[in-house]
Amino acid sequence: MVIFVLSLDHKINTFLSFMKELGYLNQYILKYKWMMLLGVVFIIISNLFAVWSPKVIQQAFDIINNALNARETIESGKEVVLQSPGLITYIFEIFGGQNPFNEAIKSDDSLVLIISKVTLLLALTYIVISFFKGVFTFFTRQTIIIISRRIEFDLKNKIYAHYQKLDQNFYKNNSTGDLMNRISEDVSRVRMYLGPAIMYSVNLVTLFILAIGFMLKVNVTLTLYSLLPLPVLSVTIYFVSSYINKRSERVQAKLSDLSSYTQEAFSGIRVLKSFSKERSSEELFEIECQEYKVRSMHLVKVNAFFFPVMVLLIGLSTIFTIYIGGLQEIKGEISVGNIPEFVIYINMLTWPFAATGWVTSLIQRAAASQKRINEFLKTEPQVKNPITEEIEIKGNIEFDNISFTYENSGIQALKNVNLRIKAGETIGIIGRTGSGKSTLAAMIARFFDPDHGEIRIDGRDLKTIDLNNYRKNLGYVSQEDFLFSDTIENNIAFSKDEFDKDTVIGAAKIAAIDGSLNELSKGYKTILGEKGINLSGGQKQRISIARAIISEPTILIFDDCLSALDTETEDQVLVNLNKLDKVQTKIFISHRVSTIRNANKIFVIDHGEIIEQGSHNELLKKGDLYSELFEQQLIEEGQLK
Ligand SMILES: Nc1ncnc2c1ncn2[C@@H]1O[C@H](COP(=O)(O)OP(=O)(O)OP(=O)(O)O)[C@@H](O)[C@H]1O
Ligand SMILES: [Mg+2]
Repeated sequence: MVIFVLSLDHKINTFLSFMKELGYLNQYILKYKWMMLLGVVFIIISNLFAVWSPKVIQQAFDIINNALNARETIESGKEVVLQSPGLITYIFEIFGGQNPFNEAIKSDDSLVLIISKVTLLLALTYIVISFFKGVFTFFTRQTIIIISRRIEFDLKNKIYAHYQKLDQNFYKNNSTGDLMNRISEDVSRVRMYLGPAIMYSVNLVTLFILAIGFMLKVNVTLTLYSLLPLPVLSVTIYFVSSYINKRSERVQAKLSDLSSYTQEAFSGIRVLKSFSKERSSEELFEIECQEYKVRSMHLVKVNAFFFPVMVLLIGLSTIFTIYIGGLQEIKGEISVGNIPEFVIYINMLTWPFAATGWVTSLIQRAAASQKRINEFLKTEPQVKNPITEEIEIKGNIEFDNISFTYENSGIQALKNVNLRIKAGETIGIIGRTGSGKSTLAAMIARFFDPDHGEIRIDGRDLKTIDLNNYRKNLGYVSQEDFLFSDTIENNIAFSKDEFDKDTVIGAAKIAAIDGSLNELSKGYKTILGEKGINLSGGQKQRISIARAIISEPTILIFDDCLSALDTETEDQVLVNLNKLDKVQTKIFISHRVSTIRNANKIFVIDHGEIIEQGSHNELLKKGDLYSELFEQQLIEEGQLK
């Protein structure tokens, strides 16, 4: 008993916490409140029609039964008035006609005629009732399911907009699969709560009240007996369906393992083949598949039980109703017609009752998903942008004692960095791999905020400048080139809402890629990536450059994006960049001295610290790391013996 109370208490608490999570959705339900209300009205109307149909069957049974009972009396020549069924009288009164039952029946002939006339009428009534029930069920779905789809749409957009607000830190800490799940899987589970779960719950309540009201009016004892098996049915289904859910979740989990495994194998197919690992990859796949099969088999077994058990329980409750009904009829407490009427009511109530188990698990899943969505929506971007203000960016950059540590690896990538870059300058940043060059570029682009110190743009704290406005003035080419699966033209003009072909070609010419693009059969219309062709590393880098310079930004940052070019092409790009009048500040990050030797000022970075700065010649004279790097490269290029 104590255990039962405790578990009940626990159940109530979890239910309350579910409702708290799902409470977030109330604002959306309120948004569509009138449509929702209309949906509920439609459910009530369709159920009103539904509960009348068993009545029609009862009438038909009773008419035939009464008529047959009266047959002997008629044969003996006496006049008989059949008991007039309520519904029929009602219908005839509405339409102002004569009720054929109120006519005296004299011969066997007219008895048959009347029975067939009346049963035909009842059959038509049944069809009309069913038709209207169907029409209102249609309207119900058209309102409630449509609301759930609209809310799904709103929610997806809200989540996507929130994704756009979050900074790189968030993306580093969450896997792509997780992010995708939140916007697809989680939202669709929430939709199942907003649509089917709400619809079936309202349906159950209204149908339950109406049908039981009708049943109680006929006979209280029979009602109680025939309802008895239903709670058993719904509890059984609850347990079976949660068991099925658990098993199917295990199947789903394995399926997603399987698909990530295959996806990785496909994208790494070159590496896989070059190490001739096809065989072991096949074996691993087979192991995963085997596990998937085993889990699926478990699910199939439970599923195979589910429907027979349900049908058995429904069958038992029908037999029970007929048996008790029969006894009641013999006692004369109900009519023969009441028995099929009750059987239909019970069948009518079975599905909504059975659905309570299903609906409960839908709500549980939706609450778990909504919890994840709520947590995510509460995540604040670390890089905040509180201001909207259009200001002109001139291109002066100052770093004042900047330090930055990556949260996830604990690596301090920048240590007390101080820099002064004036508008109009060309800057080179050089250093060994892992020295913090890309981190420095990320700081200028404000992908992260520094832990200590202040970055000033034109003398103003970068945190107080509207980020969107700032980034519009910034051209950043990252070290890892990423191009969209779209045409080359659209990739280059990515930052522009509208563009003409000449602008695209102009940008491509400056990036020294125009020539290679013209060689492609579809030229600028060539589709790249998964849906299209692959370009060489150097070509991709140059398209990324064209994309960054097309809008002539004030500040241009090249993060090692000339590395795949030969020195000749590199020089060409560097010379071409001088044609961009609007670009004020150019920052080149490189391993190679050749990229930056002509810069006005070069910063040498090592272990997150700026250890040298000056022009190429000044740094060479110093004879420290810079000249060391320079000499090493000359040796590599075979110019110094
Ligand atoms: N996202 C990250 N999370 C954790 N640590 C990082 C991250 N990015 C870089 N680091 C670490 O910070 C340090 C500086 O990295 P950074 O990418 O700035 O070097 P880099 O000078 O650009 O190197 P490379 O020349 O190879 O591009 C490295 O030790 C690196 O391991
Ligand atoms: Mg780098």
